Amino acid sequence: MRVLLLGSGGREHALAWKMAASPELTKLFAAPGNAGIAGCATCIDLDAKEHEAVVAFCRSEHIDLVVVGPEAPLVAGLVDALHAAGIAAFGPSAAAARLEGSKTFTKELCQRAGIPTAAFASFDALQPALAYLAAQPVPVVVKADGLAAGKGVTVATTHAEAQAALSAIFAEPGGKAVIEECLVGEEASFFVLTDGKTALPLATAQDHKRAYDGDEGPNTGGMGAYSPAPVLSPALQRRAMEEIVTPTLAAMEAAGTPYRGVLYAGLMMTQDGPKLIEYNVRFGDPECQVLMARLESDLLPLLHRAATGRLAGAAIDWRAQAALTVVLASKGYPGAYDKGSEIKGLEAAEAVEGVTVFHAGTRREDGRLVAAGGRVLNVTALGRDIAEARARAYEAAARIDWPQGFSRSDIGARALAPAASA
Ligand code: AMP
Ligand code: GLY
Repeated sequence: MRVLLLGSGGREHALAWKMAASPELTKLFAAPGNAGIAGCATCIDLDAKEHEAVVAFCRSEHIDLVVVGPEAPLVAGLVDALHAAGIAAFGPSAAAARLEGSKTFTKELCQRAGIPTAAFASFDALQPALAYLAAQPVPVVVKADGLAAGKGVTVATTHAEAQAALSAIFAEPGGKAVIEECLVGEEASFFVLTDGKTALPLATAQDHKRAYDGDEGPNTGGMGAYSPAPVLSPALQRRAMEEIVTPTLAAMEAAGTPYRGVLYAGLMMTQDGPKLIEYNVRFGDPECQVLMARLESDLLPLLHRAATGRLAGAAIDWRAQAALTVVLASKGYPGAYDKGSEIKGLEAAEAVEGVTVFHAGTRREDGRLVAAGGRVLNVTALGRDIAEARARAYEAAARIDWPQGFSRSDIGARALAPAASA
């Protein structure tokens, strides 16, 4: 199979690494890729926003499958353009990608289908939003509608903080806001692979969204992850499937917009059971890194079957081992940071048993590996359990020589001492 992978993060390096191990792969292109992806794919300059150029490339290179990593091209309808051209693509249509692209769309779907989620109201003007807010208890959650790369959410502990968040949202032209009940519990991510009809649960994972130890500091794309997530027991996974994911997929199909691809449910384990916080229409980053480390089955035929409606009868096998990834980010991330500093010691890091280093924002400059983004490396380890995976990942991370980087030192702590941080 000849494959084109779109994206440039740690998620895409993990997908490229796993697809490169497939006996069915004959050629892998990545656009734009990064210095790590360049080790297992031919990186090319192709803008995912230019749908016609992507289609033309796929035709001239006889691409059998396009795998779309991030959400923006999905929401923008790249998969629709590829399908219209007869090219198989892994990921949802624009209509189905509204599950991530529009919080109001998802909330209304949940309401209609009786899916457990936080109580909510949506607004397209400030005054009614403020009036509604005044009657809500705190903490309360204020979200900007639309894609915001994790930055559109304020969990406000006072009404003043919530008012400020609403004012900021409506200061933007066309601003829309959702006000939500604040759910209490532990968060976990649940992934499902689907072709629109058959849905297969993948493994569970938890990530660490805040920048600093102890879940302090600003929200980021994710500073580390581990799989499995002990909080999502097999019984709770069944409930998440029955009460949340299956009715969502049924509603999407009934509306004539079947969902294909990977559906990532961000869940809160509340006292009343799992509730949906949000959907994402792609793999999580860095959750994908730990899922790929644990995936025993060949990824490529699974993605192809999901993209072409042939997932029925597929089985997915996982290693019994746990996986954990520690993100190394540029100092200053998620705010401003410098680029271009040299990174050394990757070989020594990968010499630690069970360790693979997935690249995110890296590039080669005159043969040197340099930092080129906020999140830069994902040091990923397998182990007998989370404790061993964690020890290996941190041993490997300590071998990386990059003074301009930082990482959290407590990835996985929640899984090792759930009672202490629940
Ligand atoms: P989102 O962008 O919707 O993933 O939200 C980012 C983060 O905000 C989530 O991972 C949660 O930690 C938090 N969050 C979002 N919605 C709620 C909610 N209704 N209750 C509690 N926390 C929430
Ligand atoms: N790690 C969170 C996300 O990918 O959205």
